[in-house]
Amino acid sequence: MERRFLTLGIESSCDDTAVSILDGQRDVKADLISSQIKDHAPFGGVVPEFASRKHLEAILPLVDRALENAGVSDPAQELSLIGVTAGPGLMGSLLVGVMTAKALAQTWHIPILGVNHLEGHLFANVVASPDLEPPFICLIVSGGHTEIILVEDFGNYSLLGATRDDAAGEAYDKVAKLLGLGYPGGPIIDSLAHKGNSEAFSFPVPLRSSDEIAFSFSGLKTAVLWAVKDLKEKSVDLPIADLCASFQKAAVEALMTKVERAVEVTGIRKVAISGGVAANRGLRNALQRKKDWNVFIPPAIRCTDNGVMIAAAAYNGYKRGLISDLFLTPNPSWPLV
Ligand code: KG4
Ligand code: ZN
Repeated sequence: MERRFLTLGIESSCDDTAVSILDGQRDVKADLISSQIKDHAPFGGVVPEFASRKHLEAILPLVDRALENAGVSDPAQELSLIGVTAGPGLMGSLLVGVMTAKALAQTWHIPILGVNHLEGHLFANVVASPDLEPPFICLIVSGGHTEIILVEDFGNYSLLGATRDDAAGEAYDKVAKLLGLGYPGGPIIDSLAHKGNSEAFSFPVPLRSSDEIAFSFSGLKTAVLWAVKDLKEKSVDLPIADLCASFQKAAVEALMTKVERAVEVTGIRKVAISGGVAANRGLRNALQRKKDWNVFIPPAIRCTDNGVMIAAAAYNGYKRGLISDLFLTPNPSWPLV
């Protein structure tokens, strides 16, 4: 029987502790997530110091369970690599993952590779679609990032455009907060949007008429704020579903317009999406309507933070000759490009 190449993937950049084990590029043997959503919800967002303490509590039990789920009884003999998110993200949260990974790599005498979280998101597509080969365009949309990347080859990326202010997920979270909907706002707005009328409010689509590949979400968020203020002054009950649907329409259109522009500029019609906002039904539907593009969309569960995407990026990087050492240090603002 062919020997397995097992990669242990560790993700702790924000508020999810995730540990996965991958055989080769895409055979998932274990996939665990410990979410902190309930812990941070009362604060309306992630409290960084609290997040790192929660990672600390969760991480080793998760590693144990992942090994058990994958049937690994002797990790020193059976694991081939540890991949860990080394940035971008919250410093305290990243430190927990990186320090754990280094301790395990040293104990088990196996190689370690620090992974860029955004490259991880990109690899969610590689896991989901064996036929996805570069070059392709990838829209990375999460709580911290909104970027269009040209993947010339794995490991060879260029930035086609990014947000000038808020990330798309951040805009979802802020709008949800001002509507009193809870945290994280993306999934809540997404499900309410499907019950509302997207034509009820005419919110601006940021940078729609500009040729530039760039995003801006702070003006859209402010437009929702003014609409809400206006309704409150008139003592009208807030039509929450209509507000969500109208906001979502503008947000998805803002993203799609710039992906269309990226396709036009590069001539590449192979388009992937990833990151938490890629779980959004409005965005997924809009992409699926592009019949003359070759579209790649990971399952929603692999769009939000997970360990599989980190293990997959680590495996690919290691096969390309990358390796870290025990001096690996997290970089909270590590750019992909
Ligand atoms: O990639 P991710 O799990 O963590 C970061 O790296 O940021 O993304 C989390 C973000 C949050 O802002 C969350 O509100 C948003 O993704 N999100 C969504 C949906 N699911 C998660 N936004 C819109 N629609 C969704 N269905
Ligand atoms: Zn993420």
